[in-house]
Amino acid sequence: MSDERATAQGGMDTSFGFKSVGSGEKQGMVDAVFHQVARRYDIMNDVMSAGLHRVWKDAMVTALNPPRHPGFKVLDVAGGTGDIAFRIVDASHRQAHATVLDINRSMLGVGQERAEKRNLSENVDFVEANAEELPFGDAEFDAYTIAFGIRNVPDIAKALKEAHRVLKRGGRLLVLEFSEVQMPILDKVYDAWSFNGIPALGKAIAGDGEPYRYLVESIRKFPRQADFARMIEQAGFDRVRWTDYSGGIAALHSGWKL
Ligand SMILES: C[S@@+](CC[C@H](N)C(=O)[O-])C[C@H]1O[C@@H](n2cnc3c(N)ncnc32)[C@H](O)[C@@H]1O
Repeated sequence: MSDERATAQGGMDTSFGFKSVGSGEKQGMVDAVFHQVARRYDIMNDVMSAGLHRVWKDAMVTALNPPRHPGFKVLDVAGGTGDIAFRIVDASHRQAHATVLDINRSMLGVGQERAEKRNLSENVDFVEANAEELPFGDAEFDAYTIAFGIRNVPDIAKALKEAHRVLKRGGRLLVLEFSEVQMPILDKVYDAWSFNGIPALGKAIAGDGEPYRYLVESIRKFPRQADFARMIEQAGFDRVRWTDYSGGIAALHSGWKL
């Protein structure tokens, strides 16, 4: 499976899961997937990861450690239904301000409803835009987070450059993404679950297994940990490191704009 992975040198902009697609086609296909899954997205996350996504997201926010005083501005890109933004605002004792940016109106709509229910509308705003062309000036944010989003972006290098541009000096980039499993037996179990269990569950719960097949395949196309770290450095970030979660099923990459 790992042979499918892209390297830091390229190959990411012409794949939709395991299919090769023409450059420029990918975004439309990704958008169709997330329009289709938006209403079931949160429940499917729990089912597909057996709740582990919550642990990984909590660990990401612990790594960010948002200050408990006003003024901290975070941009959560591909923020979808708001999971990361809500956690950051909670961790800051409602002092931080989070902007959830996503290209998909259906995902943002679910996020807005959730923010209202949690009384978080003052701390969180929602922006429909592309990670590759952020509608913000230079050096506006203290932190840029993106969870399980970057592998869906057709031009990852461009998105990372935009991340660097909108961060203040001293600002932090945190990228949580599915990655390459580093444990010999776990990788076999994970493969069986991913390629058989997840699409079958998608069909049973959400009525169609195909969007979930894309999600699984796109994970395998994403660069392995060291290659992705190199891409982050190439975008201008310093002190780039990563931490594997659950044997590398997910990894948190961190970089600083110094
Ligand atoms: C797997 S979801 C992750 C949502 C959320 N961050 C989470 O962890 O639950 C991926 C999100 O990436 C968004 N996305 C895909 N391409 C994008 C792009 N080019 N710019 C911004 N968001 C994008 C999708 O619309 C979707 O909401």
